[in-house]
Amino acid sequence: MTKSEFKNLISQGIPSTLPPPKPYDPSLNHAPKRKDILTKTEKRLALRNALRYFPAEFHETLAREFADELREYGRIYMYRFRPDYEIKARPVDDFPYSSRKAAAVMLMISNNLDIAVAQHPHELITYGGNGAVFQNWAQYLLTMKYLSEMADDQTLVMYSGHPMGLFPSHKDAPRVVVTNGMMIPNYSSQDDWEKFNAMGVTQYGQMTAGSYMYIGPQGIVHGTTITILNAGRIKGGKEGSLAGKLLVSSGLGGMSGAQPKAAKIAGVISVIAEVNPKAIRTRHSQGWVDEVTEDMGELISRVRKAKENLEAVSIAYHGNIVDVWEKFADEGIYVDMGSDQTSLHNPWSGGYYPAGLSFEESNRMMSSDPENFRILVKKSLIRQVDAINRHTSRGTYFFDYGNAFMLEASRAGADILKSNGEFRYPSYIQDIMGPLCFDFGFGPFRWICCSNDPADLDTTDTIAVKTLKRLMKNSPVQIKQQMADNIHWIKEAGRNKLIVGSQARILYADAEGRIALADAFNKAVASGKLKAPVVIGRDHHDVSGTDSPYRETSNIYDGSQFTADMAIQNVIGDAFRGATWVSIHNGGGVGWGEVINGGFGLLLDGTDDAERRLKQMLFWDVNNGISRRNWARNEESIFAV
Ligand SMILES: NC(=O)c1ccc[n+]([C@@H]2O[C@H](COP(=O)([O-])OP(=O)(O)OC[C@H]3O[C@@H](n4cnc5c(N)ncnc54)[C@H](O)[C@@H]3O)[C@@H](O)[C@H]2O)c1
Repeated sequence: MTKSEFKNLISQGIPSTLPPPKPYDPSLNHAPKRKDILTKTEKRLALRNALRYFPAEFHETLAREFADELREYGRIYMYRFRPDYEIKARPVDDFPYSSRKAAAVMLMISNNLDIAVAQHPHELITYGGNGAVFQNWAQYLLTMKYLSEMADDQTLVMYSGHPMGLFPSHKDAPRVVVTNGMMIPNYSSQDDWEKFNAMGVTQYGQMTAGSYMYIGPQGIVHGTTITILNAGRIKGGKEGSLAGKLLVSSGLGGMSGAQPKAAKIAGVISVIAEVNPKAIRTRHSQGWVDEVTEDMGELISRVRKAKENLEAVSIAYHGNIVDVWEKFADEGIYVDMGSDQTSLHNPWSGGYYPAGLSFEESNRMMSSDPENFRILVKKSLIRQVDAINRHTSRGTYFFDYGNAFMLEASRAGADILKSNGEFRYPSYIQDIMGPLCFDFGFGPFRWICCSNDPADLDTTDTIAVKTLKRLMKNSPVQIKQQMADNIHWIKEAGRNKLIVGSQARILYADAEGRIALADAFNKAVASGKLKAPVVIGRDHHDVSGTDSPYRETSNIYDGSQFTADMAIQNVIGDAFRGATWVSIHNGGGVGWGEVINGGFGLLLDGTDDAERRLKQMLFWDVNNGISRRNWARNEESIFAV
């Protein structure tokens, strides 16, 4: 397809003649069948909602087809309208636009739906099981059309994937304002998501999926490496002496798949259990996991050998994590560090596979017999916690990885609470990310080269090393380790070959670091050192962006951890300080109703205007959270202020 054909298709939006139906492609990973939760009247409403995107002459054909999709998959994805062109990050000028900022948003959306990047690309799910960019293909087509037409004095309003409209605004306003899953608080249970998502009126945007800021697995490899390194340090491992230590965890999915790669970079032995053979194949073929076994006996002897030889090796166990914890306890295998990364933010529809059932049996049962499936999930969590408790009584350091493991285990009645009602184990934020990173303002700063050219990414890496080294010379001792870890990371980043999709990079930096990096990139765009503008943004998993009482804000101890003022203030503040787009979501990371999380994107196009925006916006974006943590009497934030 030529560039101009591609541009025409984007500008066309919903085609004026019905495209032929699209066959279901079994070679790809698909979202599990969602539960049948709507009443007959609600199903009619779901159909009417789906049909409102189309002219009346399509309705007779589409009504039947959409009814079939709803019956078959529990959702209406509108598969027929999936475009024939490849959806992927392209050089920014390959998109049709009148606002280059809007074109940068198109690049980011396209990357989130790339089949090499997204978890269930045909269901428009980027990661985390149900983290959606759009609810259906009509929304995608219309949004891209609106973006292609948008002028620099208009704002596109996105309601949970639904393009509500393109409205007049002004040049300093964000070009796109995204909300995902914003519910009246009392309608925010897991089943509310099932119901209103099936009706086509809301979606779960996860963190970076619904805000177009997902950059593939690299982001998570970086965060996981920092976590494992620091968990090892907490366990008394001195620099370079993590060799021979064993990490046990679960999940080789979107984010969890980073664990074996990160463990290897950190130099430890890892055993990661995974029930889905496709997920194992993906990570093994990428070289992110070294070895695979489904034989427990073989696993045990391999781990013993690796410990003896102090090998840094990553092993995937094809099976249930509960069996690993139990068997390792029976066999006396000492586990240094343990965690869990099943998708417990979504426990009843594919996030957690209970012990004792095969993968296929679970997939059938979660939609055919959801009540009994729930019971098995709870029993399995009780068994898992019992086995973990046996390990921790022997000295294992166990931490919750922000996947709602302890929350769901406690709801299941597992032995996970102390006598005072608190969880037995810390979250990785309480022990690691909070005091070592977020409280100082260190968080996941990322950038994407809009030229889509790897050479530009190399240039930005070089600029980043130079900038951070300069800052480190004067940085206080409290943050020297963070600076050193990130300089080391960025030097190695190219060699670790972490790019899947857009030419993107991540590192952790504080407010000063983020502003200095963005400023240096903007100057490099202005001077022509970089061929095209750079988008900056971040994960929502950050110092200011997210209010999540069991994760990002779990190290806030003034009682305010169940409030969400910070995340809301963050997005409002970013919006009027110059962000190109902002987003605010319900549920990212730990589940619908459990968190409010927000983020932004900002295009650095080399202008003075971009410099003004980056300085005022990034300062607020980080210091909002530091100030809140300072009021909560967190020592590190008091220091940072
Ligand atoms: N990596 C991080 O830094 C990080 C940070 C915060 C939160 N999380 C959380 O971690 C969770 C996982 O994220 P993801 O994107 O990898 O999700 P995912 O759904 O892509 O992957 C989870 C994997 O766990 C597997 N699984 C489920 N139950 C299992 C069991 N009992 N035994 C073995 N395997 C099992 C699934 O098959 C799936 O492949 C999410 O809840 C996410 O919010 C991760």
